[in-house]
Amino acid sequence: MKKAVTVVALVVALCCMGIIAAVDTSAAGKNGEALFKQYCQVCHPNGGNIINAKKTLSKKDRDANNIKTVDDIVRNMRKPGPGMTPFSEKAVPDGDAKAIARYILKTFK
Ligand code: HEC
Repeated sequence: MKKAVTVVALVVALCCMGIIAAVDTSAAGKNGEALFKQYCQVCHPNGGNIINAKKTLSKKDRDANNIKTVDDIVRNMRKPGPGMTPFSEKAVPDGDAKAIARYILKTFK
């Protein structure tokens, strides 16, 4: 009997943790990964670049092209080079654009 109570308590605790984790990500705005998948993944699968192989999102290429910070990435989204869709502030507000940029910096090394 005692064991059953422990199991129930454990399940309840795990469920609560799940709910808290879910609330956490939504409180921080849409997360960068989801936004990246929505807007960027088509041309940058796995941080690559299907149109211009010299301009992937890997650190090596970003460094070579002077794209080093969150602001650099947001600037490239607002005013990209040939072949990339421009993303206006209306389409992707600054908060979301920065979340995408942070995701790129931490994901594609
Ligand atoms: C239609 C295809 C396409 C989409 C969609 C796209 N890109 Fe690009 N991206 C490109 C092309 C082509 C380039 C090379 C031209 C340039 O430097 O802007 C590029 C270059 C970049 C660069 C510069 C990389 C480097 O090494 O110089 C960054 C950063 C970037 N894209 C970010 C994004 C982000 C963030 C999104 C989503 C919000 C996105 N791109 C969506 C095609 C795309």
